[in-house]
Amino acid sequence: MEQITIEMLKSKKDSYIGKTVQVTGWVKNYRESKTTSFLELNDGSTFKPLQIVIQKEDQHKISAETINAAMHLGVAVSVCGMVVSAYHNADDAEINAEKITIIGECASDYPIQKKKTSLEFLRTIPHLRMRTNTFMAMFRVRNALSMAIHHFFQDHGYFYVHTPLITGGDAEGAGESFQVVAPDFPGDFFGAPASLTVSGQLEAEEAAMALGRVYTFGPTFRAENSNTTRHAAEFWMIEAEAAFTDIHGIIDVAREMIKSIIREVLAKCPDEMAFFDHFYEKGLVEKLRNVADNAFAEVDYTEAIEILKKSGKTFKYPVEWGVDLQTEHERYLTDEYFKKPVFVVNYPRAVKAFYMKQNPDGKTVAATDLLVPGVGEIIGCSEREADYDKLITVMKDRKMNLDNYTNYLDLRRFGSVSHSGFGLGLERMLMYLTGISNIRDTQLHPRAVGELK
Ligand code: 4AD
Ligand code: MG
Repeated sequence: MEQITIEMLKSKKDSYIGKTVQVTGWVKNYRESKTTSFLELNDGSTFKPLQIVIQKEDQHKISAETINAAMHLGVAVSVCGMVVSAYHNADDAEINAEKITIIGECASDYPIQKKKTSLEFLRTIPHLRMRTNTFMAMFRVRNALSMAIHHFFQDHGYFYVHTPLITGGDAEGAGESFQVVAPDFPGDFFGAPASLTVSGQLEAEEAAMALGRVYTFGPTFRAENSNTTRHAAEFWMIEAEAAFTDIHGIIDVAREMIKSIIREVLAKCPDEMAFFDHFYEKGLVEKLRNVADNAFAEVDYTEAIEILKKSGKTFKYPVEWGVDLQTEHERYLTDEYFKKPVFVVNYPRAVKAFYMKQNPDGKTVAATDLLVPGVGEIIGCSEREADYDKLITVMKDRKMNLDNYTNYLDLRRFGSVSHSGFGLGLERMLMYLTGISNIRDTQLHPRAVGELK
């Protein structure tokens, strides 16, 4: 007898109708009537489960004891039976069970029960919450999103580069890194203090000066002492870097990437996205379709400050030209004012990183953040300062230790060209795509201050 996955059965339904097959999976739901028992089985290959129909009068085939043992959430079973069209939906298939074998019993204190459990509770059992519909949908979308990102860059001539995770210092000067130490090794293992990367950008720039267009996609670590719903200590970041490209060029790339990945995820995960639309954000799919099909807003930082001042809102952090935008400001701009994704461009240089290209006004840099409704910032982006003298002046002003940046400065000495890039937070994008409002629910094992489950 052919052993098949539920995905094979559902996608090639017509070729299996009338055949006897074997499927394996976990019981996701069960119910019974007088004459019939029903199991919903999933092996992970599809989001929607497969219905198994068990006729009770056929007890010469399947014992009452076996049926009872199978009627528990979380039990792993193997089912043999004939494939038929589903009673309620002729496009779907179900199996009339002829034999059931219990593969793995599930202890009675299994915490995933029929009653809907809160996301807060599920965070206490990260090893089991994967089995809920929410997390099965999340991780299927996370997979599709990751592949969509690769597809976009591969289709646009970008090379995937792997930048180091252990770095020789706080590369961005953000001061939020984790140290890497080998406690049993005498002295510094690497001969100098080492930390986990906060961004692969500075190394991606090196690669872009040879390959032209590159992107990274990997884990990133920040010891941010902010216990928010949008910050994780370990997250995944995608960083694109393109030579011979200015700020306008890279904004085009970032926007087209967002549109393209939304389209691909909607196409690859219709059932999962319908689930998030139903349970987490009504109108989600429609919203995303609109985003994929329409223009994004673009506003100058200076104008954004005026909009915020005229909003009539009392913000916790007062608004004045020169301040960095806080989440509350970002959310007003994107949720209430523009009501769509917005690139805020030309931030004051003092609130942004040293490497950003200085604008001729002497006050701002060619940098932009992409803000989206419901989440706030999902992309940080800028043209890089390609002029050696200007860069070194800023670094000296900021009292940076130039010895740590000789490689980076060399890029401005040997064939320097205009170049730009951006970083997209994978989990922030997932929040936007799914309507899930806490970053902890986009990761298998979230890491944040005081959290290491
Ligand atoms: O804005 P950020 O700090 O930009 C950079 O790191 C640049 N080097 C990117 C570049 O130009 N190559 O971070 C980029 C994005 C943010 O917009 C956000 O989506 C995400 O990374 N991010 C975080 N996501 C989760 N938890 C955190 N603690 C995050 N910090 C940043
Ligand atoms: Mg940022």
